[in-house]
Amino acid sequence: MSSAREPILILAPMAGITDWPFRLLCKRQGADELVTEMISAMGLIQAPRSSRTYQQLLETQPEETPIYAQVFGHEPGYLADAASRLSDMDAFSGIDLNAGCPAPKVTGSGSGSSLMKDIRLSETILRALRRATSKRLSVKFRLGWDDDSRNALDYARMCEAAGAEQICVHARTRMQQYAGKADWGAVGEIKQAVNIPVILNGDIFTPQDAKNALLKTGADGLAMGRGALGNPWLFGRIKRVLAGEEDSPPTAREIIDTALTHLALMARFKGEERAVIEMRKHLSWYLRGSRGAAQARTRINTAGSMEELADILKGQLLVHENEGIR
Ligand SMILES: Cc1cc2nc3c(=O)[nH]c(=O)nc-3n(C[C@H](O)[C@H](O)[C@H](O)COP(=O)(O)O)c2cc1C
Repeated sequence: MSSAREPILILAPMAGITDWPFRLLCKRQGADELVTEMISAMGLIQAPRSSRTYQQLLETQPEETPIYAQVFGHEPGYLADAASRLSDMDAFSGIDLNAGCPAPKVTGSGSGSSLMKDIRLSETILRALRRATSKRLSVKFRLGWDDDSRNALDYARMCEAAGAEQICVHARTRMQQYAGKADWGAVGEIKQAVNIPVILNGDIFTPQDAKNALLKTGADGLAMGRGALGNPWLFGRIKRVLAGEEDSPPTAREIIDTALTHLALMARFKGEERAVIEMRKHLSWYLRGSRGAAQARTRINTAGSMEELADILKGQLLVHENEGIR
């Protein structure tokens, strides 16, 4: 491995997915740093403090430390106010600026990856954030808006000069969204250009991917998003493989036990009725690739209670154990 220190493994922020129940499971399986789902700076400042939506976005557990609060927006004033408010919360170790989201409803207002089109505004925002918080400041961005305007190297240098202490680069342009292959080599160039930690993001699905990406780029860490869906073990597996140990995928029992724990945590977080709906996607991801997953998924999508969901999961475990599958 080219970086001297242990690489930092981060659960990449994913709106609608990386709430505290899922973050906690990833942390328990070896994630070093966590990030909240993206939070609208303007929304946070304008919403009443009693807003359930924002209270839930900001809910964390003590075990999650260190965790960054991720903000998105395009107005320096709102972003600084939000950073200041979030910094006052002991739970957060840092603030992360979202300059990578490709969703039209975010970029349409000039936020997310749209910020990469305006490096001067981005610098103004970062300097405002730097003044607003004494906690760690990081930025998550892409390789540029499109292939003709790849400016990630300049953007990275700007982030460092404006006071960011870490950057996370999703190795795709905005126009690529999530398609095509992540260009890890471009992150290697950024690593050479700045002195702050560079986290590589994009297409790390297996421990071998992690090893290859670190070897190719010398990145200081990796952020995993889609690879962690239904797969919080990815973090621990990467750590073990990087330490020279054999890869050790979870057994069927570990998968079902974790899915049941996730269900219980979600019910604690959002109440049973909401948890049954929110857990549909997670449970389908946990069961992905297992025997009878398609039928189980159909039943999961119509189940109306936690008890029903738990029975489906336990049924899956029985199928596997009866067939002698790990
Ligand atoms: C459903 C979904 C939601 C996402 N939400 C966010 C978000 O709130 N903030 C952010 O910076 N990136 C967000 N991302 C992007 C991921 O953090 C990550 O950059 C991207 O998925 C590429 O990494 P991967 O190949 O490991 O998935 C989201 C991605 C997905 C698939």
